[in-house]
Amino acid sequence: MPTQPKALEALTFDERRFAPPEAFRAQANWRDASVYADADRDLEGFWAKHAEDFLWSKRWDTVLDWQVPYAKWFAGGKLNISENCLDRHVRAGLGAKVAYHWEGEPGDTRSVTYAELLDETQRCANALRELGVHTGDRVAIYMPMIPELPVAMLACARIGAPFTVVFGGFSAEALAGRINDSGATVVITADGGYRKGGVVQLKRNTDDALAQTSTVQKVLVYRRTAQEVPWTDGRDVWWHDIVPRQEAHCPPEQLDSEHMLYLLYTSGTTAKPKGIVHTTAGYLVGTATTHKYIFDIKPDDVYWCAADIGWVTGHSYIVFGPLANATTGVMYEGVPDFPDKDRWWRVIEKYKVTILYCAPTAIRTFMKWGSQYPERCDLRSLRLLGSVGEPINPEAWIWYRETIGGSRCPIVDTWWMTETGMILITPLPGITVTKPGSATFPFPGVRADVVDDEGKSVPRGGAGYLVITTPWPAMLRGIYKDDRRYRDTYWSRFPGRFFAGDGAKRDEQGYFWLMGRVDDVMKISGHRISTTEVESSLVSHPKVAEAAVIGREDPITGQAIFAFVTLRGGTDGSDGLSRELREHVVAKIGSIARPKTIMFTPELPKTRSGKIMRRLLRDIANGQPLGDTTTLADATVVEQIRTAGASATED
Ligand code: PRX
Repeated sequence: MPTQPKALEALTFDERRFAPPEAFRAQANWRDASVYADADRDLEGFWAKHAEDFLWSKRWDTVLDWQVPYAKWFAGGKLNISENCLDRHVRAGLGAKVAYHWEGEPGDTRSVTYAELLDETQRCANALRELGVHTGDRVAIYMPMIPELPVAMLACARIGAPFTVVFGGFSAEALAGRINDSGATVVITADGGYRKGGVVQLKRNTDDALAQTSTVQKVLVYRRTAQEVPWTDGRDVWWHDIVPRQEAHCPPEQLDSEHMLYLLYTSGTTAKPKGIVHTTAGYLVGTATTHKYIFDIKPDDVYWCAADIGWVTGHSYIVFGPLANATTGVMYEGVPDFPDKDRWWRVIEKYKVTILYCAPTAIRTFMKWGSQYPERCDLRSLRLLGSVGEPINPEAWIWYRETIGGSRCPIVDTWWMTETGMILITPLPGITVTKPGSATFPFPGVRADVVDDEGKSVPRGGAGYLVITTPWPAMLRGIYKDDRRYRDTYWSRFPGRFFAGDGAKRDEQGYFWLMGRVDDVMKISGHRISTTEVESSLVSHPKVAEAAVIGREDPITGQAIFAFVTLRGGTDGSDGLSRELREHVVAKIGSIARPKTIMFTPELPKTRSGKIMRRLLRDIANGQPLGDTTTLADATVVEQIRTAGASATED
């Protein structure tokens, strides 16, 4: 008799283990495993104890008010997150401490102290007020990786204006969608930014976006590249004309714990990105506490999270977590291979970086380029390494440990999501015995489980779906203006538990091993891209009748976009058309969604009810034997696609 199919098969576990080096353990912020049991005995007490570290103008009444699926953390409290990230440290005598060592791609540098960051934030906040921004108004931020980007975020937070940062690599159309959904009244941008030795047209894209929106009254523009930009008098304002003349004094608005701090748009299983809502107090407590203990932050550390602030990693672990802990950070504007493939290692050598946090896709790229680049530089300042964004394969983990970490640095493989706001599953570097490829255990105060299709906990050794079973402080507070979608996406599959959309397995010792998305979200270089979003952009091209997109395994980017396209009657596919379609997707979403492979096929494989069988397309793209084909409406389609396969074009 056939056995009941399991939700997911657990394959092999890597059995190598690495205990924290004794010298690291001896100095670690947490070195005793009892922290897990202590937190577990009293979750609310655990988080409340950490909340005591911050400045509140009114203490909370209730630690947690949980009405599934909406949590309120530290309800009744009042505070300001920018005051906690800046004023608190300056008052404590840390004004001269560097908040960011910043390095522009062309090689220009600046070091910004906490006192300077506070002054600039207050000036920017006053400028926003002058531009008509009130508490509660939304502000869109579309900037390069320059210090004015955290300044803009902190200035919004200071006056209680929820911001939405749009990654500088997104297109005008993507920016317009986010402005429209959030109803932003002001956009903060720059003339351009430097990337790959060229300039990114941020202001021009902003103008194109504004042609498709109606809520924006003012555009504040920082001059970064001094390139020519289109200008609308009365609407557009130069940063240097308005910010420097403001008073460097702007009292922080005292906001409710649950005041919306920001919205961050992320891809889901439909074409429309979701506006993930994050609020103030729980987010501060969650990001700062995890940052302090997972990265073992000490006052003299030089910490570099090499993400872009446009993603949640940058929000939580370049801006709010590190600043709340008065950390000295490094910020770099550009790509890792400009002017040469050793740029990151030069940055580490120059600033004596002690902690590096980056994505597996970067690590795999460096592996491909070869060890000669890191070997040119002195990396002995490093003491801890982190990874985030997708599962890290054991070879990359080992290479990272040996070649970058000199076999002396613990690695923290941190699992979390835009929705979770903070790291949830991770080693603690002074406590956890790590295994390459495993994110190990839930952070103290966090509870997770692996469940089967019925929602029953899968015994150790098995695999299933990852769920988070209790609320955590930095959790999302919904999808902006879409309660239904919020409930459907995260809370309906396993009522009362947060469904992450990831597959996971647990080994006999209870270690969590993440296995990637179980829905139609692809992970391209660690970034979430929805298959549907790319499909709709392809289908919006006049020559395309239908498209199906899948993530094909890729040795460097994790997954790469593989698009199957059927054309409208009479048109033949060609290299020229492939190029045109790639550019079309880039214009609609951004270069991050550029399909790597396009295959023109006469038909797509469908079930009798008309659903595209992505599973088959995945098998075809990955060159694997086809699974069950009995539900295909037309069995000859697969053969036709296989024949067409010869004409697939690679980018
Ligand atoms: O599939 C998981 C993967 O990234 C997804 C979340 O993507 P995003 O919201 O863009 O946030 C990425 C940065 C926090 C998750 O559903 N993911 C993230 N970290 C890991 C991971 N997969 C495996 N291991 C990780 N450490």
